[in-house]
Amino acid sequence: MSINASQNEISAARAYEDLHVPALFRQFAPLLVEAAHVQPGQRVLDVACGTGVLAREAAAMVGENGFVAGLDASPGMLAVAADLAPSVEWKQGLAESLPYEAGSFDAVLSQFGLMFFPDRAAAIREMLRVLAPRGRFAVAVWESLERSQAYPEEVALLERLISPEAANALRAPFVLGDRDALVQLVADAGAASVEVTTHHGTARFPSIRAMVEADLRGWLPVMGVHPDEAQIEAVLQAAEDVLGRYRTADGTVVFDAPAHIVTGQKP
Ligand SMILES: C[S@@+](CC[C@H](N)C(=O)[O-])C[C@H]1O[C@@H](n2cnc3c(N)ncnc32)[C@H](O)[C@@H]1O
Repeated sequence: MSINASQNEISAARAYEDLHVPALFRQFAPLLVEAAHVQPGQRVLDVACGTGVLAREAAAMVGENGFVAGLDASPGMLAVAADLAPSVEWKQGLAESLPYEAGSFDAVLSQFGLMFFPDRAAAIREMLRVLAPRGRFAVAVWESLERSQAYPEEVALLERLISPEAANALRAPFVLGDRDALVQLVADAGAASVEVTTHHGTARFPSIRAMVEADLRGWLPVMGVHPDEAQIEAVLQAAEDVLGRYRTADGTVVFDAPAHIVTGQKP
């Protein structure tokens, strides 16, 4: 495919791949592949693939006789994904209207995208539509903010030093933490055999500054919040104290990052 991404979009996606993928996302990819029972030779779709860490894991499992597709709304993410894994079929599109034939995949995977879809029920219905009968899906979302570490303190800092909008932007990834609501959402969309498992997860950032600066300069603008330099500096300074208990002897930051994986089947 040809992907029309600007240099800024590609730089932002590279920064995501270099910092956030190893810090948070990579550890969950093998768990989703296992949860969906992905086998050699299968056809697998990764929805909201980002830079493709999960699609790459699926490609390693399905092997040369299998097929993996990755879909995301962001051209920058897809440009980096295509660079890293040219053998996967990358497509730009929306989770709510997947550009694939009904029944065309044995498994559908998606990690840490569902909370951002404007119409989550439509996205689950689409995942079921493109699955073959009895095909499995596995979708990962973060636990609630209250059951996570470091981010509750960072959210409070943003509320105090920037604005309620900035704090809400950092709350957004954690809004699907309620297990019962997650099961209801997926079952109401028509899935069978729905189950949720909660995984411990560990976040590992190179430093407090690297973690918080990426949120301020990378994530907040994606959510439409643009702090000024004075606000950024104030938060970075305060974060050294507020998040200090997560700093290890070598300066890296390590904390619990639990997540739910919801699985189910096309009836
Ligand atoms: C936190 S990232 C996760 C990316 C990837 N799954 C990973 O594990 O690294 C969320 C992704 O969801 C994508 N996204 C958000 N809304 C979307 C939508 N409606 N349809 C498709 N992708 C969407 C974003 O572009 C972003 O790449």
